[in-house]
Amino acid sequence: MVLSTGFKKIKTAVFLSGKGTNLKNLIIHSKFKNLPISIDLIISDNLKAYGLKYAKIFQIQKKIFNFKKKNYEKNLLNELKKNEIKLICLAGFMKILSKGFIQNFKGKIINIHPSLLPKYKGLNTHQRALKNNDQYSGCTVHYVNSKLDSGKIILQKKIKVYKNDTPKSLASKILVQEHKLYPAAIKKIFKH
Ligand code: GRF
Repeated sequence: MVLSTGFKKIKTAVFLSGKGTNLKNLIIHSKFKNLPISIDLIISDNLKAYGLKYAKIFQIQKKIFNFKKKNYEKNLLNELKKNEIKLICLAGFMKILSKGFIQNFKGKIINIHPSLLPKYKGLNTHQRALKNNDQYSGCTVHYVNSKLDSGKIILQKKIKVYKNDTPKSLASKILVQEHKLYPAAIKKIFKH
């Protein structure tokens, strides 16, 4: 896709396993809010992921891979190559990518995580923040390397945790911030 300024949008794939609110948000930002990427491919490990419906709504190609199958990685790489994908955004993607795969897209895979990394890598971040009586929690966009949730941080947003917060209330407040942070992090990467 070429903008009227002649600026070529960066072809991007979003990987997801679930709801896909970050996917939807990135699509909207890329189509209508001057984000320097175009979402050209949606990848999922989960045929039933609710977020896959955005493929139909926005007419974006989607592919489902069985990440347990031996040959999936080769097929996935082919698909990404075929679509000239230059950036991969993980958004609620629940599988761990292999070292080899990450090497193939070195510095071109980013993820959003619902905690203030390096705190609470992995799952159940909100429960853990509450259990530790943390005063603040938040979300982080980071590069993906071969260690879980450990790559270089691009941007972070901090929010206050209140006494009456529950994992659910915290998750929904943080999700609102995620929808601002992910586009901002992409703009930062491409100095847009
Ligand atoms: C988000 O909280 C994200 O930080 C985490 O998984 C959740 C995905 O939400 N990695 P959605 O599928 O984008 O709605």
